[in-house]
This record gives sequence, C-alpha cells and structure tokens, in this order.
Amino acid sequence: MLYLTKTFTVVIVIFSFVITGCNDDDPVGPDPDEPVSFSEHVIPIFQQHGCIGCHGPTLQENNLRVDSVERLLAGGDSGEPAVIPGNAEGSMLIRQMSPNPPLGNRMPFGMSPVPESQQDIIKRWINEGAEDN
Ligand code: HEC
Repeated sequence: MLYLTKTFTVVIVIFSFVITGCNDDDPVGPDPDEPVSFSEHVIPIFQQHGCIGCHGPTLQENNLRVDSVERLLAGGDSGEPAVIPGNAEGSMLIRQMSPNPPLGNRMPFGMSPVPESQQDIIKRWINEGAEDN
C-alpha cells in the first residue's frame, strides 16, 4: 500500500513537470512528420511577434495583412507577393525578417528578430505549398 502511494506521488510529480514544461510562451511546434499548419503553427508565431498587430485587422502597415493566406499571396505596397508558394527564400515575408531586408526595416519593426527555429517553421509551411490549412 505504501509502495503504491509512493508510485502514485512520483507519477503526479512527473506529470506536473510535463504540464509546466508545456506552459511557456512559445507556440506549439509542428510534428516533424506532419505538414505545417497555417492556423495552428504560423499564425501563433505572427501573434507572438506583433506581426498581427501591425498587419492585421486593426492596422495594415504597407497595406499588408499576414493573418490570411489570400492576403499574404496578394502582398503589400511593394507590389510583390509576401509569399511565393514553394519558394520560401524568395518570399518577401522571409526576406523582410532577415538582417538586410529588401524594404525599409527588418521585421518585426522595432522588436527582437523572430528566432531561426520559428522562421524555419514558416519556411517549411511556404515550401510545403503555403496551404490555407
Ligand atoms: C510596429 C509595426 C510593425 C510590426 C510589429 C511588423 N511590421 Fe511589417 N511592416 C511595418 C512597416 C511600417 C512596413 C513598411 C516597411 C518599413 O517601413 O520598414 C512593413 C513591411 C512589411 C513587409 C513588406 C510588405 C510589402 O510592402 O511588400 C512584410 C512582408 C512585413 N512587414 C512582414 C512582417 C512580419 C512577418 C512581421 C512579424 C514578424 C511584421 N511585419 C511586424 C510595420 C510592422
């Protein structure tokens, strides 16, 4: 009986570590074997880095919205599509987050850069065809 109680306690402690471990600010990453989802994986990264605040329902800086695939394909004032399906490196969205952006400031404007690991998730989504998934 004592043995069982101890085992139970250990299980509870491990379980709370698992829960706490997941409870950080980083959006949930995609499964390596599954396609990246725009709504589940890409949008939360945009949200975390303020992109939706300046390119969403409230503000459309440079006439760009990043909260819909359709608007990303249409692009902003530069006249270039923000996303070219299958070509992440050539896409304005990715180039604009790099240290030498083609247009004005590095995105997110006035904030810390999006970490490589998160940019890689967005690149994967573009290279997988930029589906509205
Ligand atoms: C504080 C407001 C602000 C935030 C936050 C912001 N942007 Fe921007 N964005 C701008 C402005 C302003 C421009 C116009 C270029 C410039 O002035 O640097 C721009 C331009 C762009 C463009 C080029 C649009 C075109 O004309 O083709 C892209 C792509 C872009 N932003 C993506 C992003 C992404 C992705 C994020 C988040 C990682 C982001 N932006 C966050 C303000 C913002």
